[in-house]
Amino acid sequence: MSAGTPRERIWVSRPLFPDILERLHEYFEIEVEDGDRDWTREQMAQKLGDKTGAILGVADPVDASVIAQAPLLRAVANRGVGYNNLDVAALARAGIVATNTPGVLDETTADFAWALMLATARRVTEAERFLRAGRWQGMSFHIMLGGDVYGRTLGILGMGRIGQAIARRASGFRMPVIYHNRSRVDAAIEDDCRARYVDRETLLREADFLVLTVPMTAQTRHAIGASELELMKRSAYLINIARGGVVDDEALISALRNRHIAGAGLDVFEHEPKIPADMLALDNVVLTPHIGSASLATRRAMASLAVDNLIAALGHGPNAGEPPNVVGPNVAPAR
Ligand code: 8YV
Repeated sequence: MSAGTPRERIWVSRPLFPDILERLHEYFEIEVEDGDRDWTREQMAQKLGDKTGAILGVADPVDASVIAQAPLLRAVANRGVGYNNLDVAALARAGIVATNTPGVLDETTADFAWALMLATARRVTEAERFLRAGRWQGMSFHIMLGGDVYGRTLGILGMGRIGQAIARRASGFRMPVIYHNRSRVDAAIEDDCRARYVDRETLLREADFLVLTVPMTAQTRHAIGASELELMKRSAYLINIARGGVVDDEALISALRNRHIAGAGLDVFEHEPKIPADMLALDNVVLTPHIGSASLATRRAMASLAVDNLIAALGHGPNAGEPPNVVGPNVAPAR
């Protein structure tokens, strides 16, 4: 770039590790937000109106209305594997590259699915609330009786990388693994994960722990609703680390309240960060604030990959023009 050429402007919609952010300074003029907030489409359009690229959180919406008001925009890099915040078809039509951060968060997110399984079955957060409230009067044989994990059947809906990482952990707990996926995975993966493919109904009927790892799409919206919850065992636990909209929260609240299932561990919610008061009132649900991938090392790896993607998508750095993780229909080179 010759001296005096104005630098491209990019927007970082949420705070980013300073040393990782620093790498963007080499190429761009940066506007970075110093706090987390949920952006409306109007605010997104206003922020992106004079930018060529952006590093976005997975809740920051970019649709056709935003794109129409962002004439310079050439690339958006999500810091997350999910990208249901992006209208990838509209982005592709506008020649805007969209990227995500697959791979680097699989094991951390799988660990967290297990944390929720164990915490839910063994009533860990409920027991802690009881203790902190000063209600523990002394050793009691009958308090906080939960469900077992060891030896129970693990059911996984969505056998992508994260589903597989969850399944591989099951052998230490001697848990049979069944799964359902849009398409059956290779036999070599099934062997590695010791997982058996079943139809959806069998999965719902047989799982003692049903873990959801499907992406949020029009097809997976409310994949778990009243009729699915009805098929589950009364002793079963539902674990959602995918996206809130995959579960019908109202139906789940009613199933939990009526003990149609034993409990749930939820990291994601339909209208997060708003949690229905009726959900908060239940004891048989463990609730966490969308932290599945939140180990320090993994969040750093995600941030770094998002930065690599944006630099490359905007034609700079070692992978100039070839960002590693493009999503959506095949896109023409950045406009
Ligand atoms: C979030 C996630 O990105 O990767 C995803 O799709 O949902 C998470 O890893 C992360 O929680 C930051 O918001």
